[in-house]
Amino acid sequence: MISSRAALDKFMRSSTVRATTSRFNNVVVRTKSTPVQGVQVEHGRGVWKTYGDLSNYKQGKYQIKTFNKISPIGLARFPEEDYDVRSGEAANAHAILLRSHKLQEEDVPKTVRAIARCGAGTNNIPVARMTELGIPVFNTPGANANAVKELVLCGMLLGSRKIVDGVNHMKELGAQGLARERVEKDKATFGGQEIMGKTLAIIGLGHIGSMTARDAQALGMTVKGYDPGLTVQSALTLPKDLELVDSITAAVAGADYISINIPYIKGEGGTHGIIGKEVISHFSPNAVLLNFARGELVDSAAMKEFLDGGDGRYVSDFPDDLLWDHQNAIILPHLGASTEEAEDAAASMAADTIRTYLETGEIKNSVNFPDTSLDERPDTNVRFTVVNKNVPGALAKITEAFASEGLNILQQINHSRGEIAYNVLDIDTTKHEGVLEFKNVQEKITMVDGVISTRVIYGQPGQGYAKNIDGEYFI
Ligand SMILES: NC(=O)c1ccc[n+]([C@@H]2O[C@H](COP(=O)([O-])OP(=O)(O)OC[C@H]3O[C@@H](n4cnc5c(N)ncnc54)[C@H](O)[C@@H]3O)[C@@H](O)[C@H]2O)c1
Repeated sequence: MISSRAALDKFMRSSTVRATTSRFNNVVVRTKSTPVQGVQVEHGRGVWKTYGDLSNYKQGKYQIKTFNKISPIGLARFPEEDYDVRSGEAANAHAILLRSHKLQEEDVPKTVRAIARCGAGTNNIPVARMTELGIPVFNTPGANANAVKELVLCGMLLGSRKIVDGVNHMKELGAQGLARERVEKDKATFGGQEIMGKTLAIIGLGHIGSMTARDAQALGMTVKGYDPGLTVQSALTLPKDLELVDSITAAVAGADYISINIPYIKGEGGTHGIIGKEVISHFSPNAVLLNFARGELVDSAAMKEFLDGGDGRYVSDFPDDLLWDHQNAIILPHLGASTEEAEDAAASMAADTIRTYLETGEIKNSVNFPDTSLDERPDTNVRFTVVNKNVPGALAKITEAFASEGLNILQQINHSRGEIAYNVLDIDTTKHEGVLEFKNVQEKITMVDGVISTRVIYGQPGQGYAKNIDGEYFI
């Protein structure tokens, strides 16, 4: 984490890392490896009885089950030659893609290796249960950031010029047939300020906050920011003149505009009402607060007091029973992420994440599994992945099983997160005579105490998955 401007500058000078400017639609997903002759991965026993109706199963393709209407641009990320994407019956789905569908365990066949939500929140998915079943759940952080950032900028302009009042006034005059006659006389009532040269304080410099910082600076604003959990990824995208401060009060003091872009976290140490009486007491009397994060972050009563007492403004994307009709408040109906592009970006990102996991085993943007980035591997390597409970001894037994089968591990990664551990092992296939089978080793490893599932990522899509279900081997 980067907590001060000096630390950020030092990091920028010393690092060879450069922020990527590519958007999700440029994400490159590595394709499946080309099978080498003499490697046998599939060893189906014809006992798919637990996996539902096989009559509509297309061998050699990954089956993706979708819930909700998913953007066709996102679905187009799945190449037809390798993927069978279906919204109906998909009893043997390898992965699930959904938006708001409230997922039940019964919706998840035992064949499912991964679930991705096109969106940021995952509270419509039983994540804890999916973790127990060894299934990574992915989301799409930042996919809607541009949409929200554009509305933050719009909110800043709405809060600076009496645009909404002016539009309403024109409607009233128009209805009376007085628009032409009165407009020049009345326009003085709707004067405002420019944002160029003003100071914007941004609380939370994640996907949305950092994008807002860049664009605000391009509009000629002075930008300062506060984020105790600033990531390197976000830090690299911040404008170089941004002043990083070390508290919310330092950020808001003297700012003309304040944009809050942090998550809502309930309970002790959370962010409920974080913009309350104390923080507001540091606002300039005519400050404009932009809340495109969550309504509950702002204490409405304290904000009302502030709006009543001066020329400050509140622009929010969330319903507010106290402030909805306040003359200094502009309340929008949660429009932040409501753009076609945001839906396309979220679906594309979710589809890419699923593809990457299915085709390479790599994990990024999971809410329950550890991030695991992997090096490219030659086509002669067989990649073996293991999902197991995070208990001592499992890893040793896994490597032992490979050794006992005479298999050489070229590279190995073991990451854990909470209750779950994820192992990726690349196995050399070049030093073997005859057909190299993975049947025995997969069964041995899958049945190790604590192992939930294993996968051999090699050759044809969809093959090589095994599960240990309550001590029974399923393939
Ligand atoms: N209006 C909408 O429709 C809409 C759409 C998407 C997201 N959002 C909201 O916007 C928020 C931000 O989204 P994002 O994609 O930028 O998230 P993000 O996770 O990329 O960034 C959030 C940042 O806030 C920082 N943070 C957390 N607590 C903080 C605190 N107390 N003080 C200062 N910084 C703090 C984190 O370190 C992180 O860098 C989301 O949590 C969500 O609530 C709203």
